[in-house]
Amino acid sequence: MPDKRWRHVLGVVETAVELADRFGGDRDKAWLAALLHDYTKAWPTDKMETIIREQHLPQELLEHDKELWHAHVGAWVVRQEHGIDDEEVLDAIRYHTSGRERMTLLDKIVCLADYMEPGRDFPGVNKIRERAQHNLDEALLAGFDSTIQFLVEKGKTIFPLTVLARNDLLRIIRENKSI
Ligand SMILES: [Fe+2]
Ligand SMILES: [Fe+2]
Repeated sequence: MPDKRWRHVLGVVETAVELADRFGGDRDKAWLAALLHDYTKAWPTDKMETIIREQHLPQELLEHDKELWHAHVGAWVVRQEHGIDDEEVLDAIRYHTSGRERMTLLDKIVCLADYMEPGRDFPGVNKIRERAQHNLDEALLAGFDSTIQFLVEKGKTIFPLTVLARNDLLRIIRENKSI
């Protein structure tokens, strides 16, 4: 893993543990999932493509942005190579880029930490950090909004799970406000 990516990983670890403490998550699982979340990020795409095809990971990944591949491939590899068998940790790795419907607390923590670790700098990141002081769902919604806007501007496809994740967060936020 290049130095720059490793610094990002350490930033995600630090942020994920902070978020776990703030929102009542499991800090050990947050630490482990954050540490491993980009395990295959720097792997050649053909190596990841082979694993997606041969290990029967979701084939629709191949039709979408290659940025998504490392999350699913990473979850598979850390199970195979390091014996990580905690499904919650594996899911948090698997869905850290796309999100999914009914995200667990750990999924949200790792995904949000990935958006807002101290080394991140993109339009809207400060809004995400401000919201993360108080509300995990609203912060993550701002993260998905920025991803979807970016993909639309670049003319790229949007992975369906990201749309489902965003819709689900909106529903949760509205339900919480109406209580
Ligand atoms: Fe990643
Ligand atoms: Fe990352």
